[in-house]
Amino acid sequence: MVRLKVNNLQKRFKLYTQGGIEVNGFENIEFSVKNGEFLSLFGPSGAGKSSILKTLFRTYTTTKGEILFFRDSGEVIDVAKASESEILELRHSEIGYVSQFLQVLPRISAVDVVAQQLIFKGEEEKASRLKAKEMLDYLSIREELFDLSPLTFSGGEQQRVNIAKGIIAPKSLLLLDEPTASLDKTNTMKVVEKLKELKKQGVAMVGIFHDLEAMEMISDIIYKLKRVK
Ligand SMILES: Nc1ncnc2c1ncn2[C@@H]1O[C@H](COP(=O)(O)OP(=O)(O)OP(=O)(O)O)[C@@H](O)[C@H]1O
Ligand SMILES: [Mg+2]
Repeated sequence: MVRLKVNNLQKRFKLYTQGGIEVNGFENIEFSVKNGEFLSLFGPSGAGKSSILKTLFRTYTTTKGEILFFRDSGEVIDVAKASESEILELRHSEIGYVSQFLQVLPRISAVDVVAQQLIFKGEEEKASRLKAKEMLDYLSIREELFDLSPLTFSGGEQQRVNIAKGIIAPKSLLLLDEPTASLDKTNTMKVVEKLKELKKQGVAMVGIFHDLEAMEMISDIIYKLKRVK
């Protein structure tokens, strides 16, 4: 079943603070992703990869085109045109976004940052914390760090906590912006294995990878972008 269909998507940024100048983000983007499929956005720096993900999550608005999201209920929502309340609801229940950097509140431990995702979905607290620990352990976070705030972790450790948080309670569509950018090969491959499990569970994903080997291992579709002139 198709989960996401993007038609003729375009983004032009209007820089109001800089004389209203317009900058091309991307144009003519067309693809669809089925449940259990992984589509990678691939192209040079500045081609618009991150901007496309942000547009799919409606962090950015769209200047042209459609972003059709097919809900389990059979309802189709155009993310480009949906109301703010519909977007909040979609983000709450169906569309997840894993940014490149971890953003968390101070004084919340790594385990809690991850476990909260399960608790939000209604899972019991103790079981959630246990699953969170297993995920952190799988991603090679040392046990002595579990109860500390990830704000003092290294870049790669923060990224692994971010991935754990992003994938422990997956929604039906997951958007991933360079989730393995600062990871070593071993951890990158572990993340790829987890993402493969999510595919088996039917999660549709759109992602950006730095590591070409990882991209080829996980992708069903590689969507190539050129820089718009
Ligand atoms: N908020 C914004 N305001 C204005 N221009 C923007 C904004 N976000 C992105 N752009 C422009 O859109 C273009 C695409 O940027 P984007 O970050 O999507 O590229 P990318 O493909 O993710 O590149 P990289 O591989 O370097 O991460 C760039 O030319 C950038 O200047
Ligand atoms: Mg980018």
